[in-house]
Amino acid sequence: MNYLTVAIKAAKQAGKIHKKYFNTDLKVETKSTPFDLLTIADKEAEKSIVNLIKKYFPEHNFLAEEYTYDKTGSEYTWIIDPLDGTNNFASGMPIFAVSIALMKNNEVIVGVIYDAMRNELFFAEKGCGAFLNKKPIRVSSAGSLDKSLIITGFYYSRGEEMIETLDTIKRFFLKKIMGLRRLGAASLDLCYIACGRASGFWEFELSPWDFAAGKLLIEEAGGKVTGKRGEKIFSNEKSFVVASDGKIHEQMLAVLNQREE
Ligand code: IPD
Ligand code: CA
Ligand code: CA
Repeated sequence: MNYLTVAIKAAKQAGKIHKKYFNTDLKVETKSTPFDLLTIADKEAEKSIVNLIKKYFPEHNFLAEEYTYDKTGSEYTWIIDPLDGTNNFASGMPIFAVSIALMKNNEVIVGVIYDAMRNELFFAEKGCGAFLNKKPIRVSSAGSLDKSLIITGFYYSRGEEMIETLDTIKRFFLKKIMGLRRLGAASLDLCYIACGRASGFWEFELSPWDFAAGKLLIEEAGGKVTGKRGEKIFSNEKSFVVASDGKIHEQMLAVLNQREE
């Protein structure tokens, strides 16, 4: 089986686990802060994804959110968020997904994000385009902030980063953006940019598993993903993430960096 087929199989298996536990009486634990949650669905989904991929590619590395895995020295690393949107999931809100990316050296070559509630499977392979349920997808053609729906996410910290996010929201509205959304699952935020449901996204800090697959999807759909100052970001490091249809990228960077255009 090739990488993409295995990633899709693992994502669908995780989606079944999401559905099995969604809206059941779950024990919810907390992680780094009282707002950073963990459930049995996160843990079980991660184990099922890693076990399945290891059957086919036992020599590969794994960088996943919930458990630590031994480094193998392989040039391939699977980057996995077993359940993105845990706060939504634990509250009974049906906006969450699983995100799986395969990185070869420093480059993501496969990205799969699966939303089991809507049965929406987003996937991309480097150089081969991006797809939603096997149909090719493209970013939006809004072209200016006043025609753009923008998405953001709130970092779990409630300190400086939150104040900066709130200030940035104000600056975007002063530029008369069409609307702002906070969906609660970064992987889906990025999918929605890739398929043109929204035009721009930013979040103060995301982890590799939140954005590795989504970044490839957006790039393969014709969009752009950078850091706050327009710099290249690496899918194996935490980062400030700015994503867009490409056309409004400079305008977004100007707002984020408080520059006049
Ligand atoms: C979180 C979600 C959320 C984003 C947070 C992420 P998790 O992931 O993607 O939208 O704002 O920064 O940590 O914890 O639900 O996997
Ligand atoms: Ca996540
Ligand atoms: Ca997660």
